[in-house]
Formats: sequence, C-alpha cells, structure tokens
Amino acid sequence: MNAIEIRGLTKCFRGMYALDGLNMTVPQGAIYGFIGENGSGKSTTEKCICGHLVPDKGKITLFGKPYTDAGVRAKLGALIENTGCFPSSSVHANLMMQAINLGLKDREGEIRRVLKIVRMEEHAKLTFKKCSLGMKQRIGIAMALLGDPALLILDEPINGLDADGMRLMREILVDITKNYGCTVLISSHILGELEKIATHYGILRQGKMIKEIAASEMDGRAKAYVSLRTEDMLSALALVRGVGCRAELTEGELRLYGVEETGGLSALLLQNGQRILELKKHKIGLEEYYEDLMRGREA
Ligand SMILES: Nc1ncnc2c1ncn2[C@@H]1O[C@H](COP(=O)(O)OP(=O)(O)O)[C@@H](O)[C@H]1O
Ligand SMILES: [Mg+2]
Repeated sequence: MNAIEIRGLTKCFRGMYALDGLNMTVPQGAIYGFIGENGSGKSTTEKCICGHLVPDKGKITLFGKPYTDAGVRAKLGALIENTGCFPSSSVHANLMMQAINLGLKDREGEIRRVLKIVRMEEHAKLTFKKCSLGMKQRIGIAMALLGDPALLILDEPINGLDADGMRLMREILVDITKNYGCTVLISSHILGELEKIATHYGILRQGKMIKEIAASEMDGRAKAYVSLRTEDMLSALALVRGVGCRAELTEGELRLYGVEETGGLSALLLQNGQRILELKKHKIGLEEYYEDLMRGREA
C-alpha cells in the first residue's frame, strides 16, 4: 500500500496555477525526497495533504483512504514553515500543549518518547527561544511525532543547518523510518544531503510532477563513467573504441561509459604502450540528474 497517492491535484492562487494536475506516489516506508525550484509548489502540495489548504481539483489518498478520513488524519504529523511553538515556553511545555491539543493519553510518556527520538532528552526544560536553529527544527519534528504518526511531512527541515545539525537530522529521519515504521515526505533543495537518505525522489516543476524515481533505480541508471588521462589521449581513444567501448574526449580527459571493471582497461592500455596518468571511477549523482531533467534531458 502507498502512504500517499495524489492524482490530478490542482490549486490556483488568484488565477495562477500553483499546482497543475500533480500526480504523486509515496510508497509506505519511504523517505521521499521532494525536489523543485522555489515556487514550484512543494509547500502547496504539503499543505493540501495536511488540510491547511483546500485543493481546487484532484484526489489525495493516504494509506488507501481519502485524506479527509478522520482515522487517517490522526496518522499524520507535519512540520511546515514553522514549529508553531511559543518562544517563551519551555520545550516540554510546548510539547505538553500539543499533546493536550491532540488529546493524547500518556502525555508524559509520549513527550519522553519523542524527545528521545530527536535527541533532546537533556533539553526539555530549555526555553524555546534559547534553542539553536538545529534544536528548534528537532523540536518541530518532536511536535510532529507526538501521537506516533505513520506519515511525517517535513517542509525544508534542513535549511540553514550546519554540518552537525544536518548529520543529526539524517540520523533521526533514518531512525524514524527504520525503527518506528514511519514514512517521511521531505522537501529540500539541498540535494547532496537528500541523496544520503532518500529512498525515492519526486521532481516537481511549475506545479507538475515531472519525474518520480526510486533511489535504487536512479543508481542503476545514473551515468557512471571512468575518467582517464594518458600521455597520448587520441591513441587511447582509438584503442578503447577499438574494443567497443563508448568513449569521448572531453574537458581534457577521456570519459568511458559502461565500464564495470577497470582492470582489463588498464591492461589493454599498458599492453599498447600507453602510460596511464590518471584513472578514476565517477558516478553521476542526484544533482546532475536533476539538472539534466531541468534542462529537459531525460537522465
Ligand atoms: N497563499 C498564497 N497566495 C498566493 N500565492 C501563493 C500562496 N502560496 C503559494 N503561492 C504561490 O504558489 C506557487 C507555489 O508556491 P510554493 O508551494 O510555496 O512553492 P515551493 O514550496 O516549491 O517553493 C508560487 O508561485 C507561490 O508564489
Ligand atoms: Mg516551500
């Protein structure tokens, strides 16, 4: 079953399409990286799912049920735009207010549970406004985790975080999906970070989903290549092409595609008197994949 299924979602603001027939499929258990330029409609999509905005058209299904279903709504946790915390109240007091709002039973137990997940057990008494940005984001996630949601929606939660903050956030999100069985939808434009944890990607442009792809599928498809520099690059090019290798001379190096194993390649070059100056394996990552898509080229 999919955690989220969206078909034909459309939302206009003053006659302008923010979402234009968007389709989206988020499998259960995924960390789904939601990518797109500013203004492409990520937050609008997330707000529609959470019921903060009413779509003009389209269908949203969560765990096989209409998104308006009360049972399914209770399984949803979100951090969109800001945490909604009171700055002068403590972390604990903020969580308590939310726990009361949600009508939770074992409130203290639940607060302890979420603080532990976001690595904030030691800081429950801290006043919210005294917390660092990284802590505030983690408190926002703790707020969203109250009531043990099955789906967590996070809008750009790693913006502005330092390297440590990002690493912690990564660990937390992996923990939530692996150990708490939660599905995570996370929007971000920090592709290098997203790439380390996402299991699926959805790429949005101008209110339309232009590509959905599993990370495993992307790894398989990503155009891996071997870069090679020798003393005589033209002869090297002729040599490798001679054995059927797809190769091009570009940016001062020879790029060879579809090479699984470099041993045979170096042997071939050495046997033919070519001295290898450099031989490296490259993988084209999310960033390049995304840029290719944006330029209208299918990666
Ligand atoms: N409340 C609103 N009123 C008017 N226009 C809005 C509103 N919210 C979003 N938009 C517009 O909708 C488009 C999509 O915005 P948004 O979903 O915030 O994009 P993203 O989160 O990908 O940056 C933008 O053009 C934005 O200006
Ligand atoms: Mg946004």
